Amino acid sequence: MKKNAKHELSAAIDAAVDAGAMIKKRLGRTGTIRYKGAINIVTEVDEKAEALIVGKLNKAFPDYGIIAEESAPERKGSGSWIIDPLDGTTNFAHGFPFFCVSIALEREGDVVLGVVYDPMHEELFTAVKGGGAYRNNQPIRVSEVDVIGKAFLATGFSYAFKTKKDNNLDHFRRFMMAAFAIRRAGAAALDLCYVACGRFDGFWELDLKPWDTAAATLIIREAGGITTNFDGSPHSNYSHKLVASNGLLHKRMLAILEQG
Ligand code: IPD
Ligand code: CA
Ligand code: CA
Repeated sequence: MKKNAKHELSAAIDAAVDAGAMIKKRLGRTGTIRYKGAINIVTEVDEKAEALIVGKLNKAFPDYGIIAEESAPERKGSGSWIIDPLDGTTNFAHGFPFFCVSIALEREGDVVLGVVYDPMHEELFTAVKGGGAYRNNQPIRVSEVDVIGKAFLATGFSYAFKTKKDNNLDHFRRFMMAAFAIRRAGAAALDLCYVACGRFDGFWELDLKPWDTAAATLIIREAGGITTNFDGSPHSNYSHKLVASNGLLHKRMLAILEQG
């Protein structure tokens, strides 16, 4: 990691924790809700959280660009912050306490740090490239489950799934039949951190965006896990299909996805 990333990590943590605290205070008081699509909403709180995070990071590091969910991307030469100010908006808007803030820093196409904060459980997941992964400053590791029949897996569905042929329902059915159990909890970045700390054994989803995956996929890899596309090639934050696992289940998960 280049020098100064320590400062970037503490700035990202500070922004994520502040935004998370604000989001938590607003639970049950979402304010205005805007529809981006039939089942895709954005609340006043998403926008407020993004403004808070972007304001802090821009002030501390004016040379980095910003790729954030609720605004137009602004790229700069030195690198970009990749921000989901509130991952799990549908959950938040319904008072379902499973959502998080996600912030990553990408330099030369490589994510060098990731921070995911769950304000309801006060869990802070962090990683810097090459430095391991942590939950509230304690090292974390992926699970050791190596049999699909014992695997506790997670997935999600894109907001466009009702109008798409490749909509994850076939994959979902096959994994339901093969795995121990599956959850669709509604916050991809947090699902991925649950893989990193061994609560889930694997995760897959289509059509995720860079702000859903950038921080948490680094956290998984730093916790000993693997992240690929459905064909087994390395996952980039701009790919459309993600499989993440503890490594031991990866081949089997890819084989199940291939059956479709
Ligand atoms: C969504 C959540 C959800 C996933 C969707 C995402 P948002 O992000 O991560 O779990 O299934 O694909 O778009 O809209 O709540 O930030
Ligand atoms: Ca998201
Ligand atoms: Ca979001």
